Order: sequence, then C-alpha cells, then structure tokens
Amino acid sequence: MTSQLRAYRSAMLHSIADPKDVGNDDSYQYFEDGILVVDNGHVVDIGPADEVLARQPSTLKVKQYHNKLITSGFIDTHIHYPQTGMIASYGEQLLDWLENYTFPEEMRFKNPIYAHKVAKLFLDELASNGTTTALVFGTVHKESVDVFFEEAEKRNLRMIAGKVLMDRNAPDDLTDTPQSGYDESKALIERWHNKGRLMYAVTPRFAPTSTPEQLETVGRLLKEYPDVFMHTHLSENKKEIEWVLDLFPERDSYLDVYDHYGLLHKRSVFAHGIHLSDCECQRLADTDSSIAFCPTSNLFLGSGLFNLPKMEKFNINIGMGTDVGAGTSFSMLQTMSEAYKVMQMQQEKLHPAKSLFLATLGGAKSLHLEDKIGNLAVGKEADFVVLDLHATQLMRFRMNQTKNLEEKLFVLMSLGDDRTVCETYIYGNKSYDINGEQQQIKTAV
Ligand code: GUN
Ligand code: ZN
Repeated sequence: MTSQLRAYRSAMLHSIADPKDVGNDDSYQYFEDGILVVDNGHVVDIGPADEVLARQPSTLKVKQYHNKLITSGFIDTHIHYPQTGMIASYGEQLLDWLENYTFPEEMRFKNPIYAHKVAKLFLDELASNGTTTALVFGTVHKESVDVFFEEAEKRNLRMIAGKVLMDRNAPDDLTDTPQSGYDESKALIERWHNKGRLMYAVTPRFAPTSTPEQLETVGRLLKEYPDVFMHTHLSENKKEIEWVLDLFPERDSYLDVYDHYGLLHKRSVFAHGIHLSDCECQRLADTDSSIAFCPTSNLFLGSGLFNLPKMEKFNINIGMGTDVGAGTSFSMLQTMSEAYKVMQMQQEKLHPAKSLFLATLGGAKSLHLEDKIGNLAVGKEADFVVLDLHATQLMRFRMNQTKNLEEKLFVLMSLGDDRTVCETYIYGNKSYDINGEQQQIKTAV
C-alpha cells in the first residue's frame, strides 16, 4: 500500500482513560501545539509538534490550524436515523409519543427512496456535528438498513445499525413475524456485518413490541453470530416498565425479560436504564453489557434522571447517546451540556473530562471498539474533528476569560454545537468542512 502520510498541527486533546480510574487530570492527553500524523486511515504519530517533527521525515507536509482544537470524533451510542423527520414533536411521554409521532413516521420507510433521502440527511448531520461512529436503529423494513449501510459505506464510516424487530403492539404496517424478522436479520448480517467498517446490531425495539417467540429468535441470532451487537431500550419510562411486567408476569424485572432470552452479552447496548434496581445493575455489570445515557431524550420525554454515579458504582459500561428523535440535538456537545444539568438536578457534578470520555473513549469501550476508535492513540482509525473554540462571538468572549484547559473544555461543551465543528475527518479523509465542501469519501478500507 502506498503511503499517504498527512499531518495536522493544532492544539490537541483526547481522552486516554476513565476519570473514575485515574482521576480527571490523568484521563486525557493535551498538547498545546500538537501534531497528528495519519497514514492509510490510521494514526501513526501524535505528540508535541517539536518532538513529532524531529522523528518524522523532513518532507512531511503539515496543515496548520489556528485557534482550533483537534479531538477524536464523537461516538453516539444510541440514535434512530428514521426519526430525523419527527425530531421535536410536541407534548407526549414515551408511549403516546411512539404511537402519535414515531410509528407514523417510521411507516414512511417502506419506501426505500424516502429512506435513502433521510439516510443521507442523517449522515450529513452526524458529520456536521463531528459524530464519526453511531449505533443506529433502522425501521422494521429491511430496505431501511440496506440504504443506510450503502450510504455509510460510501462515506467509509464506522457505523453499527440494524433492522427493528417488532411483532406485536405496533401498527400492522410496522410489524414482522418471528420467522421473517429472523430471516431478514440473518440476511442483513451476512450482507453487512464486518463489511469494511460496518457492523450489525440485532435490534428488538423493546420488550413490549416483541413476543416471547421473537425474543427467542434474537437469542438464537446472538448465539449464531456472537460478535454482532444487540441494541434495544430498557427501563426508560415508568408506564413502559409496568407494561413490561404485565406482558411478562413470570419474569422478575424488565432486564430479566431480556436476560431470559439470552440477550445480555458484552456487545449488548441498552438505551436509557433510568429506573433500574440494584439487581438489574449487577446483572448488567456481570454480563459486561452497556448503557447509553441519553440526557436530551430523557428530559424531552420527561422520562427521568439517569443515575450515573450508581451505574459507576456497579462498574457498568456507559456511553452517551443523542437518541434523536426523542433527543433534541445531533450535537454530542449539546448532549454533554444536558448531561451536566441532569447531574446537577441530582446534586452531582459532571466534570468536563468525564463528559469528553463518555462521548469518545467511553463510547468506544461500551461498544468494545476501543482498539479501533475512541481517541487519537497511534494505531487507531483516524476519525477526528477540528473544533473552533471561537466559533461564535459569545464563545470567543467567554473563552478569553478562561484560566485553564478544563474551563475551556467546559465552556466548549456548554456553548458549543454544530457551529463549533469546523472539519470532520473519516478514516484520515476530510468528510465535512463548515465552509462548504462536503466531500464523499471513496477510499476503500
Ligand atoms: N422505546 C421503544 N422505542 C423507542 C424509541 O423509538 N425511542 C425511545 N426513546 N424509546 C423507545
Ligand atoms: Zn431510542
């Protein structure tokens, strides 16, 4: 393979460990004047500019940024691409919101032309918000996943997605059967899982919309394909929990329903997990499962306050998710800002280093992809963003009053959004530039 050495010089920050293990100060690496060197889609060098320049060839071409911060791409561990068109729908909590807004919109994905249009728009939104990997719900229609993966493949993205499984308690046009859901999921796994940077997640919507027979097929798929993901919702809303216990009276808890059918494993990601008992937390930890903390969604649907300290006490893997369209922003910066407020409501502080971890390396760890993505360490895939700390007049004014990096980072995540993301790089190639060109990346892995 011919070398495509490229280098970027800027202030540089990335998360290298969980603050809960090493303390906030040692959880990140910061280079005030750093250079990142990328070759064939991977990071090959990073460090203080003078040191990198001394060890790299003198012919190295370096792109220099001013007043910018390079960090690794954000990882959104829970989002629904088909809900892009009904984000910000008024007035309901989870179950009525699903019935009145979500299901009618998801029905439109029967039409692959519409699905393709939304997939493109959705991936453009991720790029302009600096999100480089996401764990994504499709709809029940297998074509919704085909068009999503086709578009993600063109852009060379590391994406995880799956077809929704739903065989009851939903409109007829949105249901499959245990057999058809199994067959279609299997065909999609064969077609897409580990194709380039793409991966598949078996995706039962949530316990109320699957019969026991369907949940059994999910367990079967996970046994047949142990390295695929399992992606669903858990314990988000009190009425939802009551409904689950009515539908599955023989089970001890909401999580126990999934557990009974073999759905807990190290690649299982459960969105929300707001109202979990200690027993459920312990079981999530024992099975190395992960939770996606979705603050904007939890506030928007009035679902509740996620208890991050409790999850940490149980040592559960946590990532952050926007949960668009119940979530109100594609921006992981905005999501970090709302996470901070959720902790404030519980008399807890969320340190900016922890937020950065959750939105990058923590997300990668919760997907067990930390050997590939999550920070800018040598050997990782080169997905990174160039952020403008002076993106708006207010940000520039406020940044100029900050005294240290942690303050800057906190201001960045309190005031930042897509205006802050100047450029997004996917696998070493620029895929988004705020100044206009959105380039399609055609480099094969
Ligand atoms: N529970 C089941 N389906 C959904 C969904 O689409 N969004 C959210 N937030 N929760 C769910
Ligand atoms: Zn969701």
